Amino acid sequence: MTPYKLLLLPGDGIGPEVMGQVEKVIGFLAQAGIATFETEHDLVGGSAIDAHGVPLTDAALARADAADAVLLGAVGGPKWADVAYEIRPEAGLLRLRKDLGLFANLRPAICYPALADASALKRELVEGLDIMIVRELTGGVYFGEPKEITTLPDGTKRAVDTQVYTTGEIERIAHVAFDLARKRSGRVASAEKHNVMKSGVLWKEVVTRVHAEYTDVALEHVLADNCAMQLVRRPKQYDVLVTDNLFGDVLSDVAAMLTGSLGMLPSASLGAVDAKGSRKALYEPVHGSAPDIAGRDFANPLAMIGSLAMALRYSFGLGEAANLLDGAITDALANGARTRDIAAEGTQALGTAGMGDAVVAALKARIG
Ligand code: NAD
Ligand code: IPM
Ligand code: MN
Repeated sequence: MTPYKLLLLPGDGIGPEVMGQVEKVIGFLAQAGIATFETEHDLVGGSAIDAHGVPLTDAALARADAADAVLLGAVGGPKWADVAYEIRPEAGLLRLRKDLGLFANLRPAICYPALADASALKRELVEGLDIMIVRELTGGVYFGEPKEITTLPDGTKRAVDTQVYTTGEIERIAHVAFDLARKRSGRVASAEKHNVMKSGVLWKEVVTRVHAEYTDVALEHVLADNCAMQLVRRPKQYDVLVTDNLFGDVLSDVAAMLTGSLGMLPSASLGAVDAKGSRKALYEPVHGSAPDIAGRDFANPLAMIGSLAMALRYSFGLGEAANLLDGAITDALANGARTRDIAAEGTQALGTAGMGDAVVAALKARIG
């Protein structure tokens, strides 16, 4: 078996805690002869600032570029609140996304059967929920220039962020969304604000044009504010939801609470497919470093473990192993394994490591 080269970037806060559980799963997959990985570790975010003075070294970026896939925990935290904006922990993650060209961020929001009552919404609204948010990840207001704070003649300040999208950037993310919809229920909703933003006007126009190549897929345009409301009102109306970088960030946190917790949402950040059929990829939970619970064995590792399942599927063509791991997560939850964030009030919860063990036990049970 050729070992896949995986770079692990645990990061800050709960990042290393949840990454530790992924390492347990990786160890089990190797021992069971399902997949072997050659893992390397490096620093990103605050931990890299502490060691090197920058949130991502050129050497770590080069390692990420050379790896078959990257797994990232989370970055950021109050310890680095006062570092210069240019070298804040989040800048390390943004550089990885931009420099590796990871424009397509897939954020599946699935309500596991055992968690229908853990959702912030009523059971009947979320039972069977399976949404795929397709977030554009290397454009928009995150990277548009100018981005600055200047001082006006009267001494007050003026802050500018710039939302920019080009036809090509919208086309390629629209293709990702329509291609995914073909393999799912054949429905795409595209969220923007063409009623206010020029980038929204272009977004809607380009998505409509690309849709002409996918007559078998149904397309609906929705204003992003209405979309946020609809996600809470009747979330199952959506299948694939494509949107820009900032709306995608916000809407995916909303979608997380439909599934029970932010600690449940994995993600895949993918680049373009090259001539050899491979693509750069980084897998990370949707959640952050959760400073409020870091270091206490409280964090839910399922978003991080689910991100490994996405790596198996999207980077390594190991669909069966991915299904096995997703199945083990389903089983662990069905067997009653709960971290604090998804446990019913007053019930006993497992710690981060306990949940990792529950997933490994479910994997063992599945392969007999
Ligand atoms: P957060 O996602 O870290 O936490 C929000 C809330 O969700 C907290 O109450 C936290 O305890 C809870 N939570 C998050 N993940 C959880 C898990 N796995 N299990 C149980 N509960 C979980 O968002 P925040 O507090 O707004 O941000 C904290 C830091 O993380 C900031 O510096 C932010 O920039 C950074 N951040 C990083 C990433 C990333 O690395 N991809 C993503 C989001 C936020
Ligand atoms: C996310 C995070 C990041 C984002 C931050 C940490 C840069 O919130 O991945 O959802 O805004 O994209
Ligand atoms: Mn976010």
